[in-house]
Amino acid sequence: MAPSIEGKRPEVKSPMSTTCCNREEITPRYRVTVVGSGNWGSVAAKLIASNTAKLPIFHDEVRMWVFEEILPGGEKLSKAINQTNENVKYLPGIKLGKNVIADPDLENAVKEANMLIFVTPHQFVAGICKRLVGKIKPNTEAISLIKGMEIAVEKFSEATIGYRQDKEVAQRWARLFCTPYFLVSVVQDVEGVELCGTLKNVVAIAAGLVDGMNMGNNTKAAIMRIGLREMRALSKLLFPSVRDSTFFESCGVADLITTCLGGRNRKVAEAFAKGDGKRSFDELEAELLGGQKLQGVSTAKEVYEILSHRGWQAIFPLFMTVHEICIGQLPSSAIVEYSEQATNFSIVEGLAQYC
Ligand SMILES: NC(=O)c1ccc[n+]([C@@H]2O[C@H](COP(=O)([O-])OP(=O)(O)OC[C@H]3O[C@@H](n4cnc5c(N)ncnc54)[C@H](O)[C@@H]3O)[C@@H](O)[C@H]2O)c1
Repeated sequence: MAPSIEGKRPEVKSPMSTTCCNREEITPRYRVTVVGSGNWGSVAAKLIASNTAKLPIFHDEVRMWVFEEILPGGEKLSKAINQTNENVKYLPGIKLGKNVIADPDLENAVKEANMLIFVTPHQFVAGICKRLVGKIKPNTEAISLIKGMEIAVEKFSEATIGYRQDKEVAQRWARLFCTPYFLVSVVQDVEGVELCGTLKNVVAIAAGLVDGMNMGNNTKAAIMRIGLREMRALSKLLFPSVRDSTFFESCGVADLITTCLGGRNRKVAEAFAKGDGKRSFDELEAELLGGQKLQGVSTAKEVYEILSHRGWQAIFPLFMTVHEICIGQLPSSAIVEYSEQATNFSIVEGLAQYC
């Protein structure tokens, strides 16, 4: 997971100012709403709910906004979640915690919250934010969950939170997410953390293509190395403040590895290459992901547009090639056919100092 935070600290009465340290007397508490309820949104709600139930600064209840869907049996998804305490569509078999309340009404879900967690596929974020204008309490803090790992079954994992200035706020968010099986660190590099989470999905598409063509681990490792290098170079070109050290946090190399070994982008790209590109990514996404969304293909397009607009095509051959394969302009085999020699990263790194 590679979340980053924005917002101001709400007015909170210090626990020290209460006459009693009884949990019930510590007011007001932070109220948390998760905006999104897909696979990762549900994992996040589960993690958070285990902490809000025991940490006095947080209100117990975690509200989770659900984009309403009708299940095959005709039941509403939000109702099924509240009845079974499981997201039966996106995270079946995992109890979320009784303090997780599914709410299909976006305005209602956010109106009491002063900590918001955004965790929807990125193509829906703009529309959701428009609907939220004027509906959120003043001084509400927000965090965006860019990427994470499969931790719902409580296997050990870790995450990075990027913050801009206020380390204290970042550490409170870390307390909200941290569990013995999920370690959270904070780094002062919002853009670096965001871009790691975003760009690694493009590299995962490349890794999946390599898998689909049975090219083996050495080729895949090479693609991951080139991908990491392009991730770092593009991040620094776009935001010179991005720190090299961020790429060594869990949001960087660790998330890249896990996504290239097992993520949904890798899986769909593998199927695309196995089918010689005859079936589109959209078709394969619908068939293989059961409603979950791919991020890598749309991100590759967005990255391609940025590179073309800035005239940086020649220095990011992997990113360019991934998009051209996704839209059928190049065959899957092109992922290993460009020459990395063409990429002069000393130019990239030099440029990063001046832009
Ligand atoms: N699953 C992971 O391991 C993981 C980890 C970290 C981060 N993320 C990120 O979290 C974000 C959410 O991913 P996810 O795995 O929770 O979702 P998902 O792909 O599992 O599910 C898709 C979600 O989108 C919702 N949806 C469908 N149409 C919608 C619409 N028109 N408007 C709003 N919502 C709509 C669905 O109801 C569902 O909740 C993504 O940006 C993803 O990159 C995912």
